[in-house]
Formats: sequence, C-alpha cells, structure tokens
Amino acid sequence: MATTKLLLSDLISGVTHVPSNYIRPISERPNLLDVQWSDGSIPVIDLKGLSGPNRSDIIKEIGQACQNDGFFQVINHGIPEAVIKNMLQVSKEFFQLPESERLKNYSDDPSKSTRLSTSFNVKTEKVSNWRDFLRLHCYPLEDYVHEWPSNPPSFREDVAEYCNKTRGLVLRLLEAISESLGLERDYIDKALNKHGQHMAVNYYPPCPEPELTYGLPGHADPNLITVLLQDDVPGLQVLKKGKWIAVNPIPNTFIVNIGDQIQVLSNDRYKSVLHRAVVNCDKERISIPTFYCPSPDAVIGPARELTHDDHPALYRNFAYGEYYQKFWNRGLATETCLDMFKA
Ligand code: OGA
Ligand code: NI
Repeated sequence: MATTKLLLSDLISGVTHVPSNYIRPISERPNLLDVQWSDGSIPVIDLKGLSGPNRSDIIKEIGQACQNDGFFQVINHGIPEAVIKNMLQVSKEFFQLPESERLKNYSDDPSKSTRLSTSFNVKTEKVSNWRDFLRLHCYPLEDYVHEWPSNPPSFREDVAEYCNKTRGLVLRLLEAISESLGLERDYIDKALNKHGQHMAVNYYPPCPEPELTYGLPGHADPNLITVLLQDDVPGLQVLKKGKWIAVNPIPNTFIVNIGDQIQVLSNDRYKSVLHRAVVNCDKERISIPTFYCPSPDAVIGPARELTHDDHPALYRNFAYGEYYQKFWNRGLATETCLDMFKA
C-alpha cells in the first residue's frame, strides 16, 4: 500500500532501489569512478599562530587558499573537541527520534527560521535529493533558541554552545580574509550590517544505488562563508580543474569554503567553488555546515578598494535578502546565482 512519508529516512526502510523521483538523468549522474579519492587535495591550515608573530604568514596562506581553491581545512581552530563531539552526538540522536517526534519540526517553507525538511526545496525541484535536514537560524541566539527542537533534552544547550564557538572562529577568519585582501581588518564585519548565522544538520541515509542520485548536487553556497563539520563518513566532493575531488574526513577538523558573497566583495579574486555531497550503500552520514551571512538588508557589492579602471566592478550592488530568495527559488537547477547579479 502506498503511504505518504514526508521524510526520506522514513520512506526508505526496506527499499532496495532508489525511487524514480530520486533518479538523475544519465548525463547528470555522479560518475563515482571518475572521482579523485586521494588525500592532500585541499590545503590544511594551522590557525595556531593567527594571534601571534606569524599572523601575516597565516593570512597569506588563507589568501592563497581562497584564491586558488575556494576551500581549505583548519586545525588548531580553538573549538574544543568536547563541543564538536556533543554536536555530532546530539545530531545523530535527533535523527534517531521516532518519526512523530521529528515531524513536529517539519516544514517545506524555506523562509522559516527553524525547520526539518527533505531534499533541497520540495516546492520547486524536479528531482529529489537523498537527504533530510534540520535547518536552524542561530544568531542572535536568544532570538531563535526557543524555536529549536527540545528533544533530545540536551539539544538546545549542545547546539547553542557549538554555535557560539563556531561564530568565534568565523569572526577570526573574516578578519584574516579582510586583511588578506588588503582591506581593513573589520571591513567584512562592517559590510554584513547585523550579521546572520544559519546552520544545517544534514542527514544522508544509506542509499541502495548511490550512482543514480545525490545527497546534494553540485552547487555554490549563496552565503558569505561556510564552516563545515562532517562525521567520519566520506561524501563531500569539490570541483577542482574540472575534476571532482573527495574531501576525506579528518577528525576535529573544519572545512571552510568561500561563498558567493565573498566572491562578490572580493570582485572575483576569491572564488565560490562548486561542491556536492554523494551518498553510499553502507553508512548514514551527518554533516553540519554553518552558513555565515550578511543580514537580509545589507547591501553587498565589490569593495571599492578592489575595483580599478582596468578591473571594474563585476557585480551590481544588491540587498542580500534578494540574493538569498533567488537561491532558494531556483532549486539548485542552475549551479550558481552569481550570473544574475553581474554588473
Ligand atoms: C551544503 C553542503 C556538503 C556536505 O549543505 O551546502 O554543501 O558534505 N553540504 O554535506
Ligand atoms: Ni554547500
């Protein structure tokens, strides 16, 4: 008997084939045999010296990574192991809750500040993605924490702690990135108006036919900068010189990527790079991106210091809220929104 299930994790118990609405056309499939799985593909940057005499060396490393890869990993980032461990644990427990308990948070409306949903945007997309996700706004914390799930019992406390610590890391990275562009240390901070911080807890169940579908298809992140925590199951891949490269998990390491808004602010010096999540037959996977963003009314455009007669502004000024709405509406159908905001 056909039953309607809202979430993928509840739909797939016992399925041996991917349901037809998850199957990509042949030309869009992940081609997993073509992926480079070896390590060492993305720079690893040690942040230990960022507040010491070697600051300028580390800023140079960060700038190089933003320019050449759009992605880097950070160690000695200052976020305690226990905070990371609790965040991963409580996320796993959340997705193990009974269906009726999880569904209390369900919504398909992307404008909601707290919601559990599935795929990417079920209202606009043609092919579904092999993912459930919990999405939370988390800055300022006191505006949102009361909306968050109250089960598991430690959820709010563990996630709030994680958000505070991650925000601290992002602010240090934004100062370093500002300086690496030759801008004032607080340039990006000020450009964001009131800041925004969102996070997702992505849950990718095991998939019987991972060659046919995606956890998330290739996309660029629409926000300013993303700091991703992943568990020990591989799945993230990054496009480098036309080839998909796996970013294999390293414990207690964060993966940082430049989003569209830094590409705009830097007038294309730094690149918001395509990445995707693939799934596998054996293991569920959890990834937790923190999306740091301008407030919706912040006006974003290329920094004047980075535009010249021979390198004019490549983008028009726009309100971030306008950009964000376009991102959700187009349903990952085109890989990047940046083209819609060219000068
Ligand atoms: C995202 C994303 C990658 C992953 O949520 O924007 O790119 O590994 N996630 O889950
Ligand atoms: Ni992403």
